Amino acid sequence: MTGDNGAGAMAGQPGAGPAAGEDPGAGLAGGAMPGDNRAEVPIIETRDVSRHFSAGRAGAGWSAIGRARATLKAVDGVSLAIRRGETLALVGETGSGKTTFGRLLLGLYRPTSGDILYQGQSILDRKGEAARAVRRQIQGVFQDPYSSLNPTMTVGQSLAEVLKVHKVVGRQDRARKVAELLETVGLSPAQASRRPVAFSGGERQRVGIARALAVSPDIVIADEPLSALDVSIQAQVLNLMIKLQDERGLTYLFVTHDLDVARHISQRTAVLYLGRVVEYAPTDSIFAEPLHPYTQALVRAAPRLTTGRKTVKPALTGDIPSAIDRPQGCHFHPRCPFAMPVCREQEPQLRQLSPARSVACHLHDPAMQAAVASA
Ligand SMILES: Nc1ncnc2c1ncn2[C@@H]1O[C@H](COP(=O)(O)OP(=O)(O)OP(=O)(O)O)[C@@H](O)[C@H]1O
Ligand code: SF4
Ligand SMILES: [Mg+2]
Repeated sequence: MTGDNGAGAMAGQPGAGPAAGEDPGAGLAGGAMPGDNRAEVPIIETRDVSRHFSAGRAGAGWSAIGRARATLKAVDGVSLAIRRGETLALVGETGSGKTTFGRLLLGLYRPTSGDILYQGQSILDRKGEAARAVRRQIQGVFQDPYSSLNPTMTVGQSLAEVLKVHKVVGRQDRARKVAELLETVGLSPAQASRRPVAFSGGERQRVGIARALAVSPDIVIADEPLSALDVSIQAQVLNLMIKLQDERGLTYLFVTHDLDVARHISQRTAVLYLGRVVEYAPTDSIFAEPLHPYTQALVRAAPRLTTGRKTVKPALTGDIPSAIDRPQGCHFHPRCPFAMPVCREQEPQLRQLSPARSVACHLHDPAMQAAVASA
């Protein structure tokens, strides 16, 4: 198969035109939400972006002469767009490529292929100060805030360092700005003199958020920011992030394996499976009527949201296949209760079913449906 994940089907792809009878504005990547200004350029967009890793000498990927190394397609032809001020949730099981996608947006990985656009302009070919200026606009909040805090420095010193490196304020204003940042995230300015070890998990994540906000970014890539926190603290941090988004007009990519969280914070959701987007839709639709069998299984595993039941039903059978050796055809077919012979042969492309919704499944391919009906 190609590395394309629905190019031409996913709105916003180069050359992707609207289907007959559809609002031409649906060319905006990711489809449109009711009431959107459809002429709006997404603040950030990926076009057919892939990130492959060399996966050593084992398994599939060996060439006939035994020289090639296996390739792990962590992110494989993903086209997604986020509009200013909205939250896109990125969900999927472990190893589906969520973190890798976030790191691509943060500039921590360079794509193997494809493009990333900030306000309609590619960010990959920018150099020097132009590249740094864009990078400042895209900041990360991570599962483990320790990773972005120096344990030997006080939290105040760490925040002041960010302000210095990015020339946010002059030396004389740094202490005031640090105090302001701490207050913004619900901490006391007096806590600036403590080291990270003296903070609780929730407080540390607040510092992680303050660090991201220090440079006044447009976009925050939040990679499982709640996963390491006690359940009782998760709601507080989530509500803080929602409040900050409202106040500052922030745009979020919110990576989570918790659909409950995705439903709470996002307007749209993209479901990743083995590096590919399998469904992309308004979050409400994902829960009300999940179309892809994988999404259906994920939603069934979130019973609090759908039925109020307390017990979590096993939603997915079988292990996640190796990302190095993804199944032929539809990568989900070994686990899919609806798999058909064609699913073992042909990889379904991401099809735009409506301006707001795209699905990669043969069950939703009109040509396939017609063939089944006439058989
Ligand atoms: N630097 C790397 N080198 C090689 N393989 C990598 C690298 N980073 C990620 N991978 C592989 O890419 C795939 C996607 O990983 P990624 O961390 O993006 O998944 P994820 O969806 O964030 O998973 P999780 O929910 O466990 O955080 C995995 O198979 C992973 O092992
Ligand atoms: S393409 Fe086939 S195997 Fe894949 S999700 Fe759809 S029905 Fe299941
Ligand atoms: Mg991850």
